[in-house]
This record gives sequence, C-alpha cells and structure tokens, in this order.
Amino acid sequence: MGCGGSTPTKEDVSKQRSTQQQHPPQQQESPCLGLEDDYKFKQKLGQGGTGLTYLAEDRKTKELVAIKLIKRPLPRVLEQNILREIVIQANLGEGHVNIINAFEAVLTETHLALVMEYAACGSLTSYVANRWQVAQHTGLFLSEDEARFFMRQFIPAVDYCHKHNVAHRDLKLDNTLLSDDNPPLLKLCDFGFARQWEGQSQMFTHIGTPVYMSPELINSRNDQKGYDGKLVDVWAGGVLLIVMLLGTFPFDHTENPDPNSQEAHLEVWMQQIKSDWKEIPHIKPSLSKLSDEVKLLLDRIFKVNEKERITIEGIKEDPWYSAPLPPKYIEAEENIAKQQRKVEEQCMQRALNPALLQRRTQELQTLVSAGTSSPLKVAGETRRPTLRAPEQRVDLREESVIGSGNGPSSRISMINGPPNNLPSVTEDGGEGLDASRHAASANGTARS
Ligand SMILES: Nc1ncnc2c1ncn2[C@@H]1O[C@H](COP(=O)(O)OP(=O)(O)O)[C@@H](O)[C@H]1O
Ligand SMILES: [Mg+2]
Repeated sequence: MGCGGSTPTKEDVSKQRSTQQQHPPQQQESPCLGLEDDYKFKQKLGQGGTGLTYLAEDRKTKELVAIKLIKRPLPRVLEQNILREIVIQANLGEGHVNIINAFEAVLTETHLALVMEYAACGSLTSYVANRWQVAQHTGLFLSEDEARFFMRQFIPAVDYCHKHNVAHRDLKLDNTLLSDDNPPLLKLCDFGFARQWEGQSQMFTHIGTPVYMSPELINSRNDQKGYDGKLVDVWAGGVLLIVMLLGTFPFDHTENPDPNSQEAHLEVWMQQIKSDWKEIPHIKPSLSKLSDEVKLLLDRIFKVNEKERITIEGIKEDPWYSAPLPPKYIEAEENIAKQQRKVEEQCMQRALNPALLQRRTQELQTLVSAGTSSPLKVAGETRRPTLRAPEQRVDLREESVIGSGNGPSSRISMINGPPNNLPSVTEDGGEGLDASRHAASANGTARS
C-alpha cells in the first residue's frame, strides 16, 4: 500500500522514535461521546470548513470507516446545507464506485456524525504533494498517463452527479480521495456545496474555492445571470488536471491570501480573463513539459466564455482523455468497470419505492433539525456530555429500508429515485456557509 507517499529518511525515522519515547502512545480520547459503543475512534483524517473527519473502526463488522463530526448546536443557517450534503451523498454514493458512500447519520449529545466509506490513501492533495521530489527529476508531479487514469475516474463520477441533476461546485484535490489499491481508486467526497437542480442547471449562489472557481462563477456576485453548475464543475476539473501535472494552480491569489476577500476573487478573475492560461508567468516555463494533446484539452476547458467551454460529454471524446493507457492502468480500469457494473446490477435489482425514500429524507430532516439545539445547555448552564446512546440515527444503507416493514422486495434505489427527492433549499440558504468554508478549503491545498 504505497499511497504515493515518499520514503521516510533515516532522520525522519529516528526523530519519530525519539518522539515516541518522550510521549508514549496514549489512548486517544474519543472526540464524540455516544458513538463509542459502535465505533472505535482511531485518528484524525482531515479538517474542513464544517467539521473534523476521523478514522474509526466499526466494532461489529471491524470495517474501517470515516466519520465526519459536526459540533452541536449546528448553526441554523447551515441546517439546510448539512441536510442536503447528507442526502446527496447517500443518494449518489451508493450508485457509483468513484463516489464516497454514506452509511449512517447519527445525532449524539455533542455532534452530528456522518459515517462514510473510508478512502485509505487520503486526498489527492497529499498524493500530489508527495511527488514533489519526483517532479524535480521528471518535471511533472504525476505523469500524463497517471493523470489520465485519474481523470478517467473523476470525469465519470462528475458525469454521474450531473446525470442526477447535481452539480458538486467544490471539486478540488482536497475533495478527491484515493483508495489504497495500486493503482488507487479515486472517490469524490464532500457534497457540502452541492446543489440539485430541477429543469435547468442554472444557479446563483456565489460559492466555491477561489482558485477552482470559473470566471462566470466569480463574476456571478456582480450580475443576475447566474452560471451553469455543470460548466463550473468542468472548469474546476481543468484546474485539478493542471495541479496533478504541474503541482501549481494556474489562477491564484498570492497577493491577497484571504480566500474570502473580494480582492482574492478579483485577483483570480483578472488572471483568467487577461490572457490565455498558457501566458500566465508561473505556468509558461512549464509548458514544454506538457504534450500538445493535454494543452489542447486545457484550452477547451479554460474558455472564459462558458458557452464555448467543452462539456463533460466533449471531454469523454477528447483525444488526450481517450488515449491508450499502459497495461497496469488498463487492468485497473477493467476492474473498476467490473465493480461499477456490479453496483449498477445491485441498484437495478432494487424496487423503486419513492415513499420510503421520502421517509428517509424526512427522518434526516428531523435529525438535522434536532441537531440545531444543544441538549448540554440547560437554563444557561452547560452540562458535561455523557456516554449515553445516540439520540437519533438514520441508516443510509439499504438494510434500513428492508427493515422498514416492507420486506426485501421493496428495497428502494436512492440513485434511481425521482430527481426531485431532495429537500428544497433556496439558493440563498448557502451563503451563510460560504465564508467559513472558503477559508478552510483553501488551506492545505497543494501550492508550489
Ligand atoms: N471518507 C474519507 N476517507 C478518508 N479521508 C477522508 C474521508 N472524508 C474526508 N476525509 C478527509 O477529511 C478532509 C475533510 O473532509 P470533507 O468531507 O472534505 O470535509 P469538509 O466539508 O469539512 O471540507 C478531506 O479533505 C480528507 O482529507
Ligand atoms: Mg472538503
């Protein structure tokens, strides 16, 4: 299990040993009381704008899972966003191998916990950052073949979201996870900014991580036109491709480090509209390392006028994207295709039951809404949290549906469900979340 990590040096190892001697490993205090009976918490995996994500072991099945913890009371302004994140992830995750699956949502005294499939190799951010030394020799962080292999998992996952009327709107390396297979399986996560549409994919909320935002999305703050959610995902995919290859963002805000500031957005936007991406001073010297084919694809993605921008369908037919891969990747692709067929067969076998689907959404709504209160605050006093059982839980795996009194034949398919099954949330409902998440999402992203 390489996870693309660099080999530790002798100094690293001895430093690690002496630290262990000074601080003998301690039993980690559980970050979330109330879940201890079901899950053994192991270590922190990551931190985003909404909460902390931990690695844990399911005590019953011994399966490793990732648990995202959001502290109670959940801010009311985020209630609809959090609900939407869980519902979308549950709906899409079970239908595609390249999307993280959601297992259950639990409300404890202290947190709302989302239990998910664990991606053992972490995010693409660290995978790319660990190639820094390789890049000093070869000029590229990931070879074009490896980047193509990842793009051929990323684009179908995004396509799957779009086919289910969902735009992710925060596609980036931090939200692209990898399994510990060799070569790794890619998995999209974090649907906190995702939005489902009805009818047209036109959206209005100014949302995202500036370095990945398309010009029309940045500019949407100043006009009423809005933007097409599908095309902003395409632009972000282009940024992701460049970072995989060159380890640097094409459009950045180095002069204005605060990603929440209007100045940062303006700085990124100016670079996007001023000249061709290939003329950007910190990109130009690296262009000779890229093939003409990948440059042509990037040309088609970085079209400032979104009407001229390549679509997901177009990318799937692009010569660079569809070029042959070395045998180890072909084998892995065949495996992924086999897994995907299995997932689809399982979904097909399930009878559609919109009523159960609706009920699960309602249960989630009740759970998230209850999370906006804090049972620890009684009449101005703060009570210590106790180890008692969770207040509410919603099983997001199909078993919960079987156990709902309708028998196995009425299992529901979340992905085949009606596209309008998500709770409706006004576009403005997202704005409260923006500021805190912008800051967190930009931190820790690979920069050179
Ligand atoms: N299922 C998972 N498996 C492994 N690591 C994960 C998983 N989910 C999240 N992480 C890690 O935690 C980080 C934050 O999680 P994310 O869902 O993106 O939260 P946020 O909404 O706070 O950004 C990710 O960038 C990743 O490093
Ligand atoms: Mg994230």
